Amino acid sequence: MNQWLDERLHLSRLNDKFLRKAFPVHHSFFLGEITLFSLVILILTGILLALSFEPSNTLVVNSFDPGTADKPNMIPAAYHSVLKINAMPFGDLLRRIHHWCANIMVAASVIHMMRIYFTGAFKKPREINWWIGLLAMIFAALTAITGYILPYDNYAYNTVKVVYGITASVPWVGPWLAQAVFAGNFPGDGIIPRIYGYHIMLLPMILLATVGAHMLIMIKQKHTQPQYAKRLAYKKIVGVPLMTQQTPIMILLLLLLAGLVMLFSAFVPVHPVEYFGPPSTTPINNIKPDWYLLWVFGALAIIPSFEFHVLGGIIGSEFTGAMLFPAIPLGLLFLVPLLDRSKENMYYAENPTNHPVRLAAGVAFLAFMLILSLAGYKPDLISAGVLKSESANAVLWILVFVVPAVAYFATMAIVRGIGRLHAANERERAAHALHDDAHGAHSHD
Ligand code: HEM
Repeated sequence: MNQWLDERLHLSRLNDKFLRKAFPVHHSFFLGEITLFSLVILILTGILLALSFEPSNTLVVNSFDPGTADKPNMIPAAYHSVLKINAMPFGDLLRRIHHWCANIMVAASVIHMMRIYFTGAFKKPREINWWIGLLAMIFAALTAITGYILPYDNYAYNTVKVVYGITASVPWVGPWLAQAVFAGNFPGDGIIPRIYGYHIMLLPMILLATVGAHMLIMIKQKHTQPQYAKRLAYKKIVGVPLMTQQTPIMILLLLLLAGLVMLFSAFVPVHPVEYFGPPSTTPINNIKPDWYLLWVFGALAIIPSFEFHVLGGIIGSEFTGAMLFPAIPLGLLFLVPLLDRSKENMYYAENPTNHPVRLAAGVAFLAFMLILSLAGYKPDLISAGVLKSESANAVLWILVFVVPAVAYFATMAIVRGIGRLHAANERERAAHALHDDAHGAHSHD
């Protein structure tokens, strides 16, 4: 059978090329795999959800609460189909697994990126894979955001309203762009079919293409090697082959992830559509995006209101806070591989504390994003009495720049302190060794 297949499909060549690939044995290399496996679970649960979801915002009678013949209770078909999914056996569980996996995928890709950054794995020759990975992360977040809009409850309705406003605020082309993206004026009949197309076709296809390219490049360039590989066999690839050792480990990881997500989903509900209700003109107080978008929301919350008229276009605070300002941290992430000028290919994952400036800059960047995310809670901080409404913006802006600076210098001081401690220990050990040698030589005499 093997020979029969091989004569036709040349499978043994595939085996030599891909299945013998060595995988480093180190837990930090599971982060990329967790991201990948969340994507697998998302696709499987997404296909099942699509079988019962109705991508339309046309109004239909609510079969759970039909109202009266004179005054039927009309709700969008998409919202109605989500209520129906919730009422199906395992329907609610399926929604929860899909939702939590979206969060895990974005979180795992962020932590995976941190591993790559802090160990220097973005250096030559892996710069292209850093850029492709970043694109994959951005498209993963976009896919998740479009998913939030699909149930078309009042939360989704208000979210689209905000995002429509931001898109329309782009100078010169904004209104035209918003109509093109959202299939007409807000809230048009075409919104849900359009967002559905983005969520189940356009964005997943781009995501799969970027993740596929990411994997092929990673196989071609091979993983960076953990430090222990240097001691075992210098400049040789140390690891277990994909077939047969790494594959069972990966299957185990996938099953473990699926099991944990299922257990978590059984107890922790997701976005409660019934709580928000169908779209209504009553705005929801204090609406917030998911955690990974809070930093953009925070920037928008603290930017002062202004408007410049330039060549017939308007550059306002909405466009600056939600688009221009967030482009700075994303742009910095794209620039990361260009900061390193080494001519040699990078082989071994580096110890983060041996690169204090890189480590401190990374910690400062994380602090910057955290404080901006905190700014997203401005109304809550004011109502809890932590901030005064007159000075909240100024205080938060100061924190946005001061906390990262403090984080930078504190990290540098800690790393240098640890370095000095290590050096002192080394000196003491060397002095002891010298003393023991001298003592040994004495007793021989
Ligand atoms: C969003 C979807 C992503 C998926 C599914 C994914 C998946 C993976 C996997 C499975 C690996 C091999 C195992 C590992 O090194 O952990 C890997 C390696 C790598 N990834 Fe990603 N990744 C994603 C995002 C990112 C991001 C956001 C970046 C950086 C900005 C990135 C940069 C890299 C690099 C440079 C490598 C090679 C690392 C090395 O050889 O040590 N990836 N990725």
